Amino acid sequence: MNRKSFLKLTARAGLFLGITPSLISCNTENKVDANELDSLLTSRKASGTAVNLKCKPISKVRVGMIGMGNRGSVLIQMFEYLIKNNHAEIIGLSDLSEKKLQKNNDYLKTIQKNDASLYFGHKDEWKKLANRDDIDLLIIATPWEYHTEMSIYGMEHGKHVACEQPMAMTLKDCWKLIEVAERTKKHCMYMENCCFNGEELWVLNMINQGVFGDLNHAEGAYIHDLRKHMMDETYYEDQWRIKHHQTKNENLYTGHGLGPVSFYMDIGRGDNYDHLVSMSSREQSLSDAARKENFWTNKFTCGDMNTTLIKTKNGKTIMLQFDTHTGRPYSRLNTITGTKAVHQGYPSRLYIGHENLQWGHSWLNKDDYKTYRDKYDHPLWKKLKEQIDANAVGHGGMDFVMIYRLIRCLNQGLPLDINLYDSVLWSAITPLSGLSVANNSKSINIPDFTGGTWQKHRENELLRDII
Ligand SMILES: NC(=O)c1ccc[n+]([C@@H]2O[C@H](COP(=O)([O-])OP(=O)(O)OC[C@H]3O[C@@H](n4cnc5c(N)ncnc54)[C@H](O)[C@@H]3O)[C@@H](O)[C@H]2O)c1
Repeated sequence: MNRKSFLKLTARAGLFLGITPSLISCNTENKVDANELDSLLTSRKASGTAVNLKCKPISKVRVGMIGMGNRGSVLIQMFEYLIKNNHAEIIGLSDLSEKKLQKNNDYLKTIQKNDASLYFGHKDEWKKLANRDDIDLLIIATPWEYHTEMSIYGMEHGKHVACEQPMAMTLKDCWKLIEVAERTKKHCMYMENCCFNGEELWVLNMINQGVFGDLNHAEGAYIHDLRKHMMDETYYEDQWRIKHHQTKNENLYTGHGLGPVSFYMDIGRGDNYDHLVSMSSREQSLSDAARKENFWTNKFTCGDMNTTLIKTKNGKTIMLQFDTHTGRPYSRLNTITGTKAVHQGYPSRLYIGHENLQWGHSWLNKDDYKTYRDKYDHPLWKKLKEQIDANAVGHGGMDFVMIYRLIRCLNQGLPLDINLYDSVLWSAITPLSGLSVANNSKSINIPDFTGGTWQKHRENELLRDII
């Protein structure tokens, strides 16, 4: 591309984004490259055909898993109940490391009669697994940078895909996922386990039953001090995670905060994101820790705290935060404010307003909170209580509920709880927040990845088809 056409492109992209060409060109931290702009400009319209996508029921889902590190090793354990009840079978596993595969295969042998095939030793071995025609579903738990490629390859080879977050790290890849999933008519699911957690399901159920009145504002986050893990030599394969912090300054992990609050707010089901502004604090904590630990680098671009504000089409606001660098207690905030009630997480607290406008300043006391907790416990959480207790190793049960729902919806040919558009919308906030940060927190329009289907209100799948 010559300079003239690049300038033309940036100017047009500026209009699309609502920012001026000079701002695009003066950004210093996170340059908008020509490929990304190209994807923004040529951003096709989604057809919206993946809404309520129903595929042929699969009586026993045949699964291939790629990436058997920290996450893959937990996910495989969520299959015991499903394998024993003939709902699923694991056909093959892939990882770069033979040792990790053997460890997971040893476990698999304790819960499944048939042997799984193992694919390891080369970065492209996973393709042999994805190419097999006796697999229905690919589960992907590899480093972020492989997610789009592996998901697309899986769908192009006739597989449904369920992938760890984010499913894409650039807008171009977001649009690629839309194009391929709509064309192949395969499920494309972002495995956001927090949407399946007991507390989040309970809040969703209360919202559905009118306890909160009309919603106006939500707050979600991924606040988790990962410095030790990120600098550990072996915790993440080839220390892949910290490398993203060297080059990017944005919200790198949106789903834990955004998934649940997007469900609360009917995003894609009657409302949609409209625009965002994002700001990162200076970077300090990771480089300080790196110096202390004599880590091989102390140069990082990702600010300690990224805060992104999203305005929805219907006028609600979401505050989303990302901080994996500061020494502080874990939090996903899980805050939702409505005209009648408010919930805040960490620890979970509920406020119920008074009909007669009597001022109230207090959270419910322990007994009243418990009354609401018991009365509105989500039917799915109640139904699966026994299995949840047996699978607490998966983040207290939410990983089990997620995998259970994924497999059981496939068994019955039901739409998945997290669809293509959720997956792309939640992923897209990563590059869009980066664009805003790099442009003095300018307001950025959020593309409509749903093909306009968000305008039709429909009930959240997690409340609609309790199986
Ligand atoms: N939802 C959650 O609660 C949760 C928790 C932890 C991790 N995660 C996500 O899971 C993913 C994996 O994270 P992790 O902590 O397990 O990292 P990890 O480094 O422990 O595991 C990644 C694995 O992928 C393998 N891999 C890399 N390239 C491969 C290739 N070409 N073919 C086959 N295997 C390959 C590596 O060998 C490694 O074992 C990330 O997206 C992470 O964000 C999600």
